[in-house]
Amino acid sequence: MRILLGVGGGIAAYKSAELARLLMEQEHTVQAVMTAAAQKFITPLTFAALTGRKTLTDLFAIEAAIEHISVAQEHDLLVVAPATADLIGQLANGLAGDFLTTLYLAFTGPVVLAPAMNVNMWQHPATQANLETLRRRGHRVVDPGSGYLACGMTGPGRLADPETIAAAIAQELRRRTDLEGETVLVTAGPTEEPLDPVRFISNRSSGKMGYALAEAAAARGARVILVSGPVHLAAPRNVELIQVRTALEMRNRVMERLPDAGIVVKAAAVADFHLSKVPDQKVKKTAARVSMELDPTPDILAEIGRKKGDRLLVGFAAETQNLIQEGRRKLESKNCDMLVANLVGGSEVGFESDQNEVVLLLRTGESIPLARAPKREIADRIFDEVLKLRLALHAEHGR
Ligand SMILES: Cc1cc2nc3c(=O)[nH]c(=O)nc-3n(C[C@H](O)[C@H](O)[C@H](O)COP(=O)(O)O)c2cc1C
Repeated sequence: MRILLGVGGGIAAYKSAELARLLMEQEHTVQAVMTAAAQKFITPLTFAALTGRKTLTDLFAIEAAIEHISVAQEHDLLVVAPATADLIGQLANGLAGDFLTTLYLAFTGPVVLAPAMNVNMWQHPATQANLETLRRRGHRVVDPGSGYLACGMTGPGRLADPETIAAAIAQELRRRTDLEGETVLVTAGPTEEPLDPVRFISNRSSGKMGYALAEAAAARGARVILVSGPVHLAAPRNVELIQVRTALEMRNRVMERLPDAGIVVKAAAVADFHLSKVPDQKVKKTAARVSMELDPTPDILAEIGRKKGDRLLVGFAAETQNLIQEGRRKLESKNCDMLVANLVGGSEVGFESDQNEVVLLLRTGESIPLARAPKREIADRIFDEVLKLRLALHAEHGR
């Protein structure tokens, strides 16, 4: 593969030469791009000698084509190591003052960032906020290790080992295309069940998990159909978005598109009850108590479970208690292949948060806990496990 290696101006810049060597050994083509500060620590010559290519350093040294654009188009992955606090800030905010940062904006493939800095710089809210922005953009951050730092302090901030960075690169390269040829149907968001023409019942689902799943599947090469309840999120790129309001509409759209899909991920928080006969006019305020009889909505997950055939079905269970027990019950009763058990009710993970912490429950009895991470990262981990399941099922059926 063709890899762009961005080098920032940190003390760990010399370790980036080791990464270049390792990537060359793995038979990648490596093109180094250095910032001005990086060249204070190590010379472009080192990378040129290791990679067999002229190191790019100057945005304005154009000979023929506009190099930062052509270079962006010709490569499969961009890794920045070390990603300094300054570079992380520039990338998060879209500043494009030199070759590397301009190239970053022109590059559309996967991005891996390996930060390295002093522990206080790492823990600074500005750095963490910038990293959060980059993670939400779908970039892979290889967290620094902990230990003695060049500044004399001890703590997190040390550049991850070249082997760890290379392993993350390999995984991101696989993820670029590993859902090619698949059609993934994702449901997201809450539903709204009208009580009269102006009122409705709904829930606190923001749709962020489902949208992250749709984005991740599309980035990995799948054709994606996203059936979404009402949310305040931008439509993901390269995704067919079908907007619905009620549970019944969601059921109808999902069942219409089910024949197209090989993988179904049901992340929507569908209302369990609705008013089957909605009054034509607004219900007037009175001093007396009003009561309404609610009927159950169609159970979409159970219906897909009954008709699923060869499809892989991933359900979600949002629970406020007995998470694993409820998740296992739902996995079996709805005929899912995987159940994502999601504790909701707290403020840091779950419904409205950008982060999530879940347990993946499999039919084999296996449980895979996923530590707290941005929803986009959780989405990628879910698809990693879905693909493993698919491989295992194919092997089992001798296909
Ligand atoms: C000796 C020395 C070591 C430095 N090490 C780091 C470092 O490890 N990480 C970091 O974020 N900044 C470090 N800095 C600060 C950066 O060099 C500075 O913020 C620079 O503007 C980063 O440029 P860049 O955006 O090209 O990476 C160091 C500075 C000096 C003088």
